[in-house]
Amino acid sequence: MSQVSILVTGGAGFIGSHTVVALAEAGFRPVIIDDFSNSKPSALEGLRQILGYDVPCYARDCNDKTTLLEIFRQENIRGAIHFAAFKAVGESMAQPLRYYHNNLGSLITLLEVLVETGVPDLIFSSSCTVYGEPDSLPVTEQTPVQPAVSVYGNTKQIGEEILRDTAAASDALRILSLRYFNPVGAHPSAQIGELPLGIPNNLVPFITQTAAGLREQLTVFGNDYPTPDGTCIRDYIHVMDLAEAHVSALQHLQARPAGRHYDVFNVGTGQGVSVLELIRDFESASGQRLNYKIGPRRSGDATAVYADATKAREQLGWTARRTLREGLEDAWRWEMHLRQP
Ligand code: WQD
Repeated sequence: MSQVSILVTGGAGFIGSHTVVALAEAGFRPVIIDDFSNSKPSALEGLRQILGYDVPCYARDCNDKTTLLEIFRQENIRGAIHFAAFKAVGESMAQPLRYYHNNLGSLITLLEVLVETGVPDLIFSSSCTVYGEPDSLPVTEQTPVQPAVSVYGNTKQIGEEILRDTAAASDALRILSLRYFNPVGAHPSAQIGELPLGIPNNLVPFITQTAAGLREQLTVFGNDYPTPDGTCIRDYIHVMDLAEAHVSALQHLQARPAGRHYDVFNVGTGQGVSVLELIRDFESASGQRLNYKIGPRRSGDATAVYADATKAREQLGWTARRTLREGLEDAWRWEMHLRQP
């Protein structure tokens, strides 16, 4: 039986590259399109090391419809996973049009191509950011979506609405949005991982860079939150677990009758972990002492957000299997790999 080809937009990026591995391991044939605006071709070399062959990759902008149509025909694409997007919260506030144009333009272009080619299945990278500061925890898919506090977050909310409306009008389309909680870790081989440009915004890359000596000190953003140790609580999910959720989501879509299908799933572990707990886990996983200090709160941070992932377990048959410790060990191994001479 020939393999089913799946287009992975942003497939050289952090979550995209790990999903390429998970797809290949599940018997799919991933095809990457990535403009390398926030990723590096070295991810393709890492994929080759892990998989033992070159994953087809188009170094192009997925906002370009002619290119997409060409790739769909040439590669016999049967479904798509759409990661390609800008994701820096602060930058999105300074450059709103650039974010709306890139994140929503590429989504609309991809949807047009799916409709024109009759390819039914799409999975969209959404974010737990849609829940803002939730009133009750853990958050289920029924937890109300809050008005977005960043342009980046708004592109995810509007993206979800575009998908819902487009799926409702189509006899063919089957679409899922996956709302990611906080991805951490790397492939255990340390051949692929996160490549933050400049100073990392996210906690775990900042921690690993500090432990590796690239940064002087981590600042914990506030210890006066109404949580047991005063620091914010998040749901940190191993990126390979997150990657595997896409495979389960795709298989779920393929088993459904054609058309008019749209749904959303939380993809998290269900476990809330504080910043200080994560630092302690990192120290124990890496054997390193972390230089950190307590600083003021960062504006826009929610106190606590963690998932109820029951729906994904019941309907997709997916559940997170890896521990936070494994994620932190893998993140550290990846950081060490990057620092090799
Ligand atoms: C985690 C915790 C910080 C850095 C963001 C996006 C979201 C999503 C994932 C993205 C918070 C604390 C952090 C530091 C710290 N999608 N922290 N010192 O804010 O939960 O979510 O990333 O693409 O949309 O908003 O993740 O890793 O930035 O922060 O104390 O130097 O670590 O306050 O409690 P966040 P994060």
